[in-house]
Parts: sequence; structure tokens; C-alpha cells
Amino acid sequence: MTHTLKHYLQFTDLSVDEYAYVFTRAALIKKKFKAYEKHHTLADRTLAMIFEKASTRTRVSFEAGMYQLGGSVVHLTTGDSQLGRSEPIEDSAKVISRMVDLVMIRTYGQDKINSFAANSRVPVINGLTNEFHPCQIMADLLTFIEHRGDVTTPLDCLKGKVVAWVGDGNNMANTWLQAADLLGFTVHVSTPSGYEVDPAIAGLMTHSECFKVFADPMQACHGADLVTTDVWTSMGYEAENEARQRAFADWCVDADMMAVAKPNALFMHCLPAHRGEEVSADVIDGDQSVVWDEAENRMHVQKALMEYLLLGRQ
Ligand code: CP
Repeated sequence: MTHTLKHYLQFTDLSVDEYAYVFTRAALIKKKFKAYEKHHTLADRTLAMIFEKASTRTRVSFEAGMYQLGGSVVHLTTGDSQLGRSEPIEDSAKVISRMVDLVMIRTYGQDKINSFAANSRVPVINGLTNEFHPCQIMADLLTFIEHRGDVTTPLDCLKGKVVAWVGDGNNMANTWLQAADLLGFTVHVSTPSGYEVDPAIAGLMTHSECFKVFADPMQACHGADLVTTDVWTSMGYEAENEARQRAFADWCVDADMMAVAKPNALFMHCLPAHRGEEVSADVIDGDQSVVWDEAENRMHVQKALMEYLLLGRQ
């Protein structure tokens, strides 16, 4: 069966219906994994994973996930491939995509992954760029659905909910905005001055109703169904670390912030976390935190995504 070439470069690359399918499918794949049932839908398929930045979760979740689907992986980094010796990204895409069935890239600018995809014969997945981290938000949403909804009607529990984003206006914040706009919830964003989210990156207007900006992170958390944050200094911005430590000092998700959220509010963090910086230890290690489910769900939701991009609906 032929299947139209489809990339996953940002959250908006799947429709509402496609997300409903992928979340339900991810839940089934997870159930089979937990029961040690084989699920070899991508037997003999190969995934190339290209990393231009460090990773633990993305590497392990894609690699283990592809093996569990019956396929295999090739792991490339800038340091051990011609990508680090100025081979044009377009040439790399043409070559790599003749040899594998699927490509996952973690890189810097979105323009780079866009160029790769434009020259690729096979689906390309964003494993994090400076602008977006769509696989992480898919895992976060699956985690919310598991805890607060029903995987058979996965999108219902998201409607009208409030997600508080506390911290940097970074790739995670941009992707939360895209998800909120598509799936019908609201993001309360609070960042220090100078680190605001830019809705234009997410393809949204400044006055979009899917997000509200708060100067005070406590106000952003007020009544939230989910409170979430990320490190103060994302990969690629290390030179700004000292300035960021000063600017973000009041943007630590602590028990006071969780106390003004809904009583059953969840806490998420894409990890790795710095306890005592963007989140206090009692919050990330506390009862409302679902960060370990969130990390595990990267693998299950990405297995559903890879299967969908290669095979369509099963
Ligand atoms: N959340 C996340 O992408 O983790 P890694 O950087 O370890 O892949």
C-alpha cells in the first residue's frame, strides 16, 4: 500500500483527528509493551537518528521504541558524521533518506530540519529544535489524558483546561501554544522580562485566545489544571547562563505556586530538571508530579507516531 509522505516537524503537522488516533494507538501500544506482547509493525524498517545536541530521553525512547517495533536504528552525531564537516544538509538528506525508512533529527534552527525534510524521500521527525519540541508535548498530552481523561476519547479531557507555563519562552512554550490552539485549551504563560514567548514563532497572532500572558508566575498558576516548566537555560544558550540565573530567580515552581493551582493539578517537566532552580525538589518529587510517566510516554507516543507516518492508520 502506498502512503503519502508526511513529516512531523512541528505540532501543527498533525490534525485534531490524527492526534486522536495517535493517542489512542499509543495507549494500545503501551498496554502491549507492559504485557510483553510483540508489536512488530515496523519489522525490517530502519530509523536514522541525527543528534546535533545532547540527549538522554530522546535517544533512548526512539532507539528502544524502534527495536520494539521490530525495526533497527542508525545513530549519527555531528562529531562522527560529515554533517560536522560542512556537508550541506540538503545533500545529507538526499543520501540518508535513500538508505533508511524514517529520520529523526535533533538540531538547532527549525530552518535546518525544514531543509532536510524538503530533500528527504522519507518522513522526518523533529526530536527538538530551538523553536519546537513536538514529540515532548505529545508525550505530555498523553500523560495528561491518562491521568485526567479516557484514552478512547483522548481529546475530550483537554477542552477548556488551563496549562500554566512558568519560565523560559522557549521551544516547549512555543509548542504548548500550538497544541492549545489546535486542541482547545489555554496556556497561561509567565516568563521573566526579556524571555517572553513570541506567538509568531508558533504561527499565532499576539491576541490569540489560546494563551494569556502574566507578569506574576503565581497568577499564571492560579486555577491551572497543569503546571509545567523547563530549565532556565536551554541547549544552545549556555553563554547566557549567568544572566538567566539572575533573571529567572522568581520563576521556580514551588509549593506556593502549586497551592494556587487546582487541588488536583498535575506537575510536568520535560527533564532534565535542576532542583532548586526552575522547580523545587518537593514539587518535582511530590504527589502531584507525573514526570516519570511523562518521560516514559515519549517512547509509547513516538512508537505510535513512527508507525502512523510509515503505515497510516492500522
Ligand atoms: N526531554 C528531552 O527531550 O530529554 P533529552 O534532552 O534527554 O532527550
